[in-house]
Amino acid sequence: MLILNKTAGVFFKPSRRKIYAFLGSFHFHPGKLFLHKLVLGIETSCDDTAAAVVDEAGNVLGEAIHSQTEVHLKTGGIIPPVAQQLHRENIQRVQEALSASEVSPSELSAIATTIKPGLALSLGVGLSFSLQLVDQFKKPFIPIHHMEAHALTIRLTNKVEFPFLVLLISGGHCLLALVRGVSDFLLLGKSLDIAPGDMLDKVARRLSLIKHPECSTMSGGKAIEHLAKQGNRLHFDFQPPMQRAKNCDFSFSGLQHVIDKMIMQKEKEEGIEQGQVLSSAADIAAAAQHTVACHIAKRTHRALLFCKQRGFLRQSNTVLVVSGGVASNLYIRKALEIVTSATQCTLLCPPPRLCTDNGVMIA
Ligand code: KG4
Ligand code: ZN
Repeated sequence: MLILNKTAGVFFKPSRRKIYAFLGSFHFHPGKLFLHKLVLGIETSCDDTAAAVVDEAGNVLGEAIHSQTEVHLKTGGIIPPVAQQLHRENIQRVQEALSASEVSPSELSAIATTIKPGLALSLGVGLSFSLQLVDQFKKPFIPIHHMEAHALTIRLTNKVEFPFLVLLISGGHCLLALVRGVSDFLLLGKSLDIAPGDMLDKVARRLSLIKHPECSTMSGGKAIEHLAKQGNRLHFDFQPPMQRAKNCDFSFSGLQHVIDKMIMQKEKEEGIEQGQVLSSAADIAAAAQHTVACHIAKRTHRALLFCKQRGFLRQSNTVLVVSGGVASNLYIRKALEIVTSATQCTLLCPPPRLCTDNGVMIA
């Protein structure tokens, strides 16, 4: 913009809006090198209504997000029609992302929206809103696969070459995939039942951590991590699932039932009703978190060894990307660091705000 300032005084300290309007006013044909293509990304697959405007160099020009976590914490889980209603009430936040970026819909190059996987009722709100915009402003529509967006997010913050391994762990996702290109994925493993965040949420609910003064506003997984720091994991011996399974799949519901039974037994021993917080809650949280971390680390280790053995990943400069809400758990990250240092890999995690659902990864 220095040149613009020198040659055209009117552009002294120009706003982003003016820069893009100025660039857009020229009929250059510079191909892909011209950095003013702008994409609006819209995400409503689960319980976050999110939008962002990103340019083709990966600069985030504006963003908006509304999280439904508080409501779902009170109802003890996501009720799809409730999530749908909250998305409907908040979908106008897309306008906030556009205003923050100082970009008008007519200046967009395309509109990208999550179309799968997710809750059908939630996806529908983002999709119909997007299609209205597409129709009104005659813009190209880019359908986005939510998991692929998660897997590629790291490329916004780090220079990562293909191929790399990605581990997605959240309330709704649990998968290990080899990322060979922007739309070239090889699924290596997935959860056969529930995702780790869902399991930690269920354990936290069963432990009534919402009544614990330090945890009442935290998501289940965060509450477990917080309480685990005060507990002794060795007081309970939960076994990691699928120890003999020769694949990279995961399972969490069996472990959740074992923990449930233990909580019931402890309630009897302590003579308390379900709904009150056990004196051993911190020890149970520590043991549950440790077992989940071991399971995730062991399956990831198998996937890394498999990929290296088959030549799917480079022998050096191998990268493991970990993302999703559960990736913010520092105990689980530590377990994964042990695996990556034993296999000469680099562990990369997007910053927390890009680990969870957001509009930037869609754009
Ligand atoms: O990625 P996310 O925001 O939403 C989806 O599930 O797509 O992840 C939310 C999940 C919840 O299950 C929550 O309990 C879990 O991530 N979570 C954590 C932590 N923070 C959030 N799990 C373990 N440790 C944490 N610190
Ligand atoms: Zn997600």
